[in-house]
Amino acid sequence: MTGVDTHQLEQLESNARREVAEAESLPDLTAIRAGYLGKKGSLAAILRGIGELDGAERAAVGKSANITKGRIEQCVAERRAAIEAAVRKQALGAQALDTSLPGVEDPPLGRLHPITRVFRDMVEFFSSMGFAIEEGPEVETQYNNFEALNIPEVHPARDEQDTFYVDGGNVLRTHTSNVQIRTMTGRTPPFRFIAPGRVYRHDLSPRHSPMFHQIEGFMVDEQVSFGDLKGLLMAFGRHLMGDDIELRFRANDFPFTEPSAELDYVCLLCEKQGCAVCSGSGWMEWGGCGMIHPRVLENCGIDSERYQGFAFGMGVDRTALLRYGIPHIRLLFEGDLRVLGRI
Ligand code: PHE
Repeated sequence: MTGVDTHQLEQLESNARREVAEAESLPDLTAIRAGYLGKKGSLAAILRGIGELDGAERAAVGKSANITKGRIEQCVAERRAAIEAAVRKQALGAQALDTSLPGVEDPPLGRLHPITRVFRDMVEFFSSMGFAIEEGPEVETQYNNFEALNIPEVHPARDEQDTFYVDGGNVLRTHTSNVQIRTMTGRTPPFRFIAPGRVYRHDLSPRHSPMFHQIEGFMVDEQVSFGDLKGLLMAFGRHLMGDDIELRFRANDFPFTEPSAELDYVCLLCEKQGCAVCSGSGWMEWGGCGMIHPRVLENCGIDSERYQGFAFGMGVDRTALLRYGIPHIRLLFEGDLRVLGRI
């Protein structure tokens, strides 16, 4: 016997299996495989001895050696696959995304437009005083925008509110006062309403834009006075601009109110010094107001002997200019984040 027998092969195979099973990395595995199956490996060494065997024995041992080799190759291949899978899993684990982690940079936050913020604040004030909200159309009949408000066609007030005319003889409403007519017609006092919305005039300056926003308000009852109106608007101005805001009433004329007044804010952009936005006056016209003209009440079917009311229409955009220190009304509508992002 030359020392080559099947026992040796079995021993070799079991050693190989153990070492292969313990291999931790591909280079280790390659080295182990070479140690058993390579040209200078243990199996080759065993096979070198079979030349001394006789024919039948040689064939039998050769066959067993081949089977052993095949089984070790198989075992190596399985271990290689397992190591490769482990390596891949580790790599994936290292780059796995935790979608619950916060981003590296905070995404820029959107915010409410200054006009929206002022509107909300205004609506909140009047809601707390029991005013209900009404809306009217921006394309309006001349009757609702003018005639019913005691502005006949020849009236100079039509020129003051330079009007956009649209098809069919309608207009883009020049003020929210159209809602007075729509809301009061067919209703019996007492009532109080506000009407926030867009209005249009052919006008352009640091404080005028062809489209701007107003909030209309009106209240009708049996005992409503100019004093009520004044107190309400003073409280409104302070609510929006703080208790220290300086406000002034100026006598004025509107065809739909009598008596009428204009309410001004002190210009906070220049601290009363005079600037381009307030045309050097130190004051900013905020809106008009007055006791509703009896003819307007009658136009809406309300008994003007029994009921009186007040009405006002305040500028929203100008409030935003003063409140946020924006020096030109156009900046409110350009969507420039340098302006909007500051507020
Ligand atoms: N409608 C007037 C304007 O736009 C404002 C106003 C409303 C005045 C209600 C008096 C009463 O200028």
